Amino acid sequence: ISKEEGRMKEAHAFAAEYYQHLLLNTEEGEKALIYLEQRGFTKELIESYGIGWSLPHWDSLTQLLTRKGFELQEMEQSGLIIQREDGSGWFDRFRERIMFPIKDDSGRIIAFSGRIIDHTGEDAKYLNSPETPIFHKGQVLYNLDQARPIIRKERKIVLFEGFMDVLSAKKANVHNGVGTMGTSLTMQHLNKIKRLAERIIVCYDGDKAGWEAAKRAAEMLHAEKMKVDVAVLPTGLDPDDYIKQFGEESFKSKIIEEPQSYIAFMLMYARRNKNFQFNNDILQYVDEALNYLVGGISPIEKELYIKQISTETNISEDTLNMQLRQKEGQLA
Ligand code: CTP
Ligand code: MN
Ligand code: MN
Ligand code: MN
Ligand code: MN
Repeated sequence: ISKEEGRMKEAHAFAAEYYQHLLLNTEEGEKALIYLEQRGFTKELIESYGIGWSLPHWDSLTQLLTRKGFELQEMEQSGLIIQREDGSGWFDRFRERIMFPIKDDSGRIIAFSGRIIDHTGEDAKYLNSPETPIFHKGQVLYNLDQARPIIRKERKIVLFEGFMDVLSAKKANVHNGVGTMGTSLTMQHLNKIKRLAERIIVCYDGDKAGWEAAKRAAEMLHAEKMKVDVAVLPTGLDPDDYIKQFGEESFKSKIIEEPQSYIAFMLMYARRNKNFQFNNDILQYVDEALNYLVGGISPIEKELYIKQISTETNISEDTLNMQLRQKEGQLA
């Protein structure tokens, strides 16, 4: 890496150390520490993930890094500070937020995401570093640096949306979890994942955005020949919420260890918003569902899902099989 990039990472290391000090050892950080404790964070977890707190002041990080010998320009390019529009000075990007360091694959900090404590106003819940020479959001998976050895060993990875999900899952002894920091899995993420594991469990939030993103991610991963399962959460809960409500044990045994297969999830997704009182909805569902059974699936699975679809729609297995063969014929 270039000298500039090395400096940017150094600046991030100083910043993280500063933010963590503010969280753990100062009166200003107390409110944030209490918030984290209420969300189940232990001191060990906070320390091992370098979590911190940024002051409400306009330029406390700018001043600290200046004293450490960093130029304003390089701090700005690294995303840590922002120049005022009228050019009259600089200010800290992150103020009054819980700070999550984001690391590259070798464990060096390259960006931050800051969570607001009282998420009621119009400010974004999480504020992220911008794209910089060292940070490309579409290439980074949260926690991959720490989870890599176990993912490699088990050849299995769990995909979450958020920081809180990855960290709560970790407390629940799911150590192979990584986060896409939002809901869009990219081809770059995927290529990284493919090199480490054959098996993936997608565990996104139990809301509309989460289901849609899970479907999209599952299709992408399936197309790349990974063995994909989808862990589905009760409506309205994300993994962190689930753990809070039902406990760590239940999360591991009922959600992570009993996921839906790719096809079962796709059928479930296809059933959403359909009303089988209407022939049109039945026709549409059967058509979508059978598409998932064309090619690349064992005779046993085929029979299982044909039975399922038949029960759901009241169309006979013979008819469904006939329709499926027709689809396969069209493909051949
Ligand atoms: N995210 C983001 N910017 C936002 C909202 C979300 O970057 N304004 C990213 C964060 O990485 C977040 C993830 O998307 O962790 C999932 O978003 P969401 O489900 O809304 O947040 P949670 O992770 O559930 O956060 P919390 O539990 O703290 O509310
Ligand atoms: Mn979400
Ligand atoms: Mn969530
Ligand atoms: Mn939420
Ligand atoms: Mn959450």
